[in-house]
Amino acid sequence: MVLYFSGTGNSRFIASILAEETKQELLSMNDLLRKKEQLSLKNENFIIVVTPIYAGRIPRVVEKCIRKSSVSKGTRVYFVATCSDSMENASDYAEKLCVSKELDFYGMAEIRMPVGYILMFNAFDEKTSERLIKSGKQKAVKLAQSIIKEERFLNASHKWSVMSHVINPVFNGVLMHSKGFRTTSGCTGCGICAESCPLNNIRLKNKKIEWGKDCTHCMACISKCPNEAIEFGKKTVGKKRYYCTIPQNNNNKISALVSKNQGEPL
Ligand SMILES: Cc1cc2nc3c(=O)[nH]c(=O)nc-3n(C[C@H](O)[C@H](O)[C@H](O)COP(=O)(O)O)c2cc1C
Ligand code: SF4
Ligand code: SF4
Repeated sequence: MVLYFSGTGNSRFIASILAEETKQELLSMNDLLRKKEQLSLKNENFIIVVTPIYAGRIPRVVEKCIRKSSVSKGTRVYFVATCSDSMENASDYAEKLCVSKELDFYGMAEIRMPVGYILMFNAFDEKTSERLIKSGKQKAVKLAQSIIKEERFLNASHKWSVMSHVINPVFNGVLMHSKGFRTTSGCTGCGICAESCPLNNIRLKNKKIEWGKDCTHCMACISKCPNEAIEFGKKTVGKKRYYCTIPQNNNNKISALVSKNQGEPL
């Protein structure tokens, strides 16, 4: 089973490649969270969790979903982290999570993908993003080969990380809120942002959009709005949006494109 959480489409794309290469089913954590369903996986040979890195660790929502899950003890679990720079020391936390669930941690690998976190950074130009998507696919194919051979991922160093250990709790406690989100006059009330939110944090009332308090900064709403009609304070004004979409009709060969359209549901 390949399980993924994704906001700007990177992890979903990598998960699709891994599922194809290892001939496993794909399961969207976004969907589970939206439906408030618990993760239950029994008698799987192995599980691959594909997840973004948020401030040097796996997102809290992903951690919580796995913590509350019911998965057969001893299941082999691989983590594949998509990130724009480095997964830092996220693997230590993933390992501890597996130990607490009596799962067999088989390591965490990182795949560098394009930036979509436009609240803090600028998205890369299209050429750079396309190049990273291509190299990300190649790395995913290699990782799939290791998984098929039942090899453990060679873990990155366990050296101390300011981002994972110090910044992460501050980031989650102070910066991760939805207070800055607003719509502009370009909003047509189509509802795509509300449908895209994995935490059901967006309400559409009389064609007006409202954000609740439960936000994980996944960027699905802002990057999937077809009219670029969502801003976060002034931080995102004039910035290019990034979203990794998987086009249909590609003769079963999965590829991805940088897109600002809505793509498929994550
Ligand atoms: C809230 C947030 C925090 C992030 N923190 C980091 C980070 O600490 N290090 C890093 O390399 N990338 C970081 N990123 C970038 C994402 O990990 C990266 O873009 C990932 O591929 C996004 O996956 P997705 O498209 O499946 O959502 C962050 C992105 C977000 C939205
Ligand atoms: S996706 Fe964009 S246009 Fe559609 S309702 Fe949301 S903000 Fe408005
Ligand atoms: S409100 Fe937007 S950024 Fe926050 S969790 Fe929902 S889709 Fe993601």
